[in-house]
Amino acid sequence: MRVSSSALLATLLAVAAAKPVPETHVVHEKRDVAHRFTTSRWVKRDRLEKDTVLPVRVGLKQQNLHNGAEWLMDVSHPQSPNFGRHWTQDEVIAKFSPSNETLTTVRDWLVKNGISDRRITHSDNKAWFAFDATTEEVEDLLHTQYHEFEHSSTGNYVAACDQYHVPKHIQEHIDFISPGVKGANLRKRDSKKAKRGLRGSPARKQAPFMPKNVSSLATCDQVVTPACIQALYKIAPNDPHAKVSPNNSLGIFEEGDFYAQGDLDRFFGNFTPYIPNGTHPIPNLIDGAKAPVSLQLAGGESDLDFQLAYPLIYPQTTTLYQTDDIYYSFGNDPNATGLFNTFFDAIDGSYCTYSAFGETGNDPVLDPKYPNTHASNGYKGALQCGVYKPTNVISISYGEQEQDLPAYYQQRQCNEWLKLGLQGVSIFVASGDTGVGGIRGDGSVNGCLGSNATVFSPTHPNSCPWLTNVGGTKIYPGRSVYEPESAVNDPESGYSSGGGFSNLFDIPDYQASAVSTYFSAHDPGYKYYRNGQYNSTGGGLYNRNGRGIPDVAANGDNFAVFNAGRFILEGGTSGSAPIFASLINRIVEERIKVGKGALGFVNPTLYEHPEVLNDIVNGTNPGCGTKGFSAVKGWDPVTGLGTPDYPKMLDLFMGLP
Ligand SMILES: *[C@@H]1O[C@H](CO)[C@@H](O)[C@H](O)[C@H]1NC(C)=O
Ligand SMILES: *[C@@H]1O[C@H](CO)[C@@H](O)[C@H](O)[C@H]1NC(C)=O
Ligand SMILES: *[C@@H]1O[C@H](CO)[C@@H](O)[C@H](O)[C@H]1NC(C)=O
Ligand SMILES: *[C@@H]1O[C@H](CO)[C@@H](O)[C@H](O)[C@H]1NC(C)=O
Ligand SMILES: *[C@@H]1O[C@H](CO)[C@@H](O)[C@H](O)[C@H]1NC(C)=O
Ligand SMILES: *[C@@H]1O[C@H](CO)[C@@H](O)[C@H](O)[C@H]1NC(C)=O
Ligand SMILES: *[C@@H]1O[C@H](CO)[C@@H](O)[C@H](O)[C@H]1NC(C)=O
Ligand SMILES: *[C@@H]1O[C@H](CO)[C@@H](O)[C@H](O)[C@H]1NC(C)=O
Repeated sequence: MRVSSSALLATLLAVAAAKPVPETHVVHEKRDVAHRFTTSRWVKRDRLEKDTVLPVRVGLKQQNLHNGAEWLMDVSHPQSPNFGRHWTQDEVIAKFSPSNETLTTVRDWLVKNGISDRRITHSDNKAWFAFDATTEEVEDLLHTQYHEFEHSSTGNYVAACDQYHVPKHIQEHIDFISPGVKGANLRKRDSKKAKRGLRGSPARKQAPFMPKNVSSLATCDQVVTPACIQALYKIAPNDPHAKVSPNNSLGIFEEGDFYAQGDLDRFFGNFTPYIPNGTHPIPNLIDGAKAPVSLQLAGGESDLDFQLAYPLIYPQTTTLYQTDDIYYSFGNDPNATGLFNTFFDAIDGSYCTYSAFGETGNDPVLDPKYPNTHASNGYKGALQCGVYKPTNVISISYGEQEQDLPAYYQQRQCNEWLKLGLQGVSIFVASGDTGVGGIRGDGSVNGCLGSNATVFSPTHPNSCPWLTNVGGTKIYPGRSVYEPESAVNDPESGYSSGGGFSNLFDIPDYQASAVSTYFSAHDPGYKYYRNGQYNSTGGGLYNRNGRGIPDVAANGDNFAVFNAGRFILEGGTSGSAPIFASLINRIVEERIKVGKGALGFVNPTLYEHPEVLNDIVNGTNPGCGTKGFSAVKGWDPVTGLGTPDYPKMLDLFMGLP
């Protein structure tokens, strides 16, 4: 019988829509507006047309995600018999990829429901199945309804549903399905411009003078030269003619900020004449990135990083991971506020398609898209996947705040930091320059969280437990390099050492005792909340069970730097990270000489042996209208365990297998 009455058709449709979900099925994901870092900025619009074609991704359950932390401890805890036995990249991929049973079960389910085998693509890293299907097909498969959702601030449109169902026996094999609760891109509208929040601009000051004698330590309280840093941490420069391992270059990450060779040369000429002019990093340029630049365009961050690292490690080399084309790295895409994903793609090809925490590959909104079709000066090549190797040690002086990016984005990245640790890579990240507070104007006028903008704002990627955060210290006026440093705090510029407690990640085991000692012996006295729920409790300022930041510290103010041809002073934890990373790179070099390997994740060892660090016990990191936390005896959320004592650190790590 042919039915042509539209009234009847409407009725049939309504019935179809209300079709009960079979008992064999369960809800797999449900939109949760109460969830932290919720998707609530998405507003539901029209139902999708049934013939709209959707790009479907079925993220397969990765094996062993929950074992990652334990495995990382197995190769990084100083008491583990497997200390230093890092994994190859292939071993990491294999351990985390889905099981064969998962592949078979999920594929059978799709085929049985009309998605033929030849329509299904399986990603290289085995993490997901992909196919195109009409909205109607997917609605039938998942017993759901798709709507357009509009993002209230960017105006992006995505296809998404409120919840979807899968058969019970499938559930354990699936991480997530997209489009699902999290949308897949449809089309976009114009949006307001917002700048990518990078921690890439160290504070600059006029230099009071150029030290007449660069070996003298008399003025380290005013101008921090390489000699000051070497004296503070008791590390002599390498013999400039020493033979060094070709496989132990110090990695330095940069984005949207570029070094100038002229600045490096001026610096070498004035402070380290034994480093020849023209000495430059090995360029690992990612997705159309370019460096170096002319003197006029030189960035404060890149110049600083290399001018701090070279005097400590030369003749060891540096490797520059410069990421993204000019268009993205200058923040010309207001949507692309994500950071590090294209870097991960370049050093781990499997990350390009890695599925975890509800996200596969790069984020369609938050990450740069290549080939870049938006700008004539954009990179026209394909996204670079696995084109470079990660170096043993990588220093990063960039970041945002936790509140700037969705939780799943940060969790997926955190798992990647963990994988790098498993492979023997040590990551050092600047802890932030705004104390316990946020960046002004980020979310609220003062950058702080909660309805009253009083809650402390933790930094990203620092809150991930699987990297090493470096806070900042300072030699205050009148003090010498032989006295203890204090936490850096410059009330005029609002700069103080980033520190506090994550709202997103719990305290990791290796840190638990240090943090609990801190609370029991030096409770900061502020009200707090738990589980990142900063809106639900009246007056709590920080997350009592969050991962503590930072882990360690190093000098972070008054650095002697040549930038854009001028001699100036720069300050920031931006400088602390490359200092600490350089010392670890030197230690790895010594280990290589005696046939040992790279160190990978160093936190478990440092928390077990705080005696290799100079405990910092003076100073605070103000923010959000408070004096912040205080540096105290033992670990604290201002300077962590303290600054390096190189000879002790070297001894410790040389004694490990
Ligand atoms: C999974 O399947 C692949 C390819 O069919 C095979 O090479 C591999 O040995 C299987 N692994 C296990 C654990 O059965
Ligand atoms: C950013 O999103 C807006 C609207 O969502 C869109 O019009 C614009 O093209 C996007 N920008 C880029 C560079 O993708
Ligand atoms: C420079 O300072 C060093 C260290 O204090 C000292 O040994 C040296 O004699 C000084 N050089 C000159 C030229 O004053
Ligand atoms: C450096 O690494 C390469 C392979 O990446 C290896 O062939 C070589 O032996 C290594 N050299 C040293 C000195 O370890
Ligand atoms: C190195 O380069 C700097 C800056 O261009 C210059 O001032 C200096 O004379 C050069 N030194 C040598 C030894 O060539
Ligand atoms: C907390 O409250 C503020 C202000 O009402 C809101 O903007 C923010 O999204 C809330 N955050 C969470 C995690 O619920
Ligand atoms: C905001 O301030 C008001 C008034 O002081 C207080 O009652 C309320 O608990 C505060 N809210 C939060 C989330 O701290
Ligand atoms: C303690 O730190 C403050 C800055 O917070 C500094 O002014 C003072 O000199 C430091 N005191 C000592 C003993 O280092």
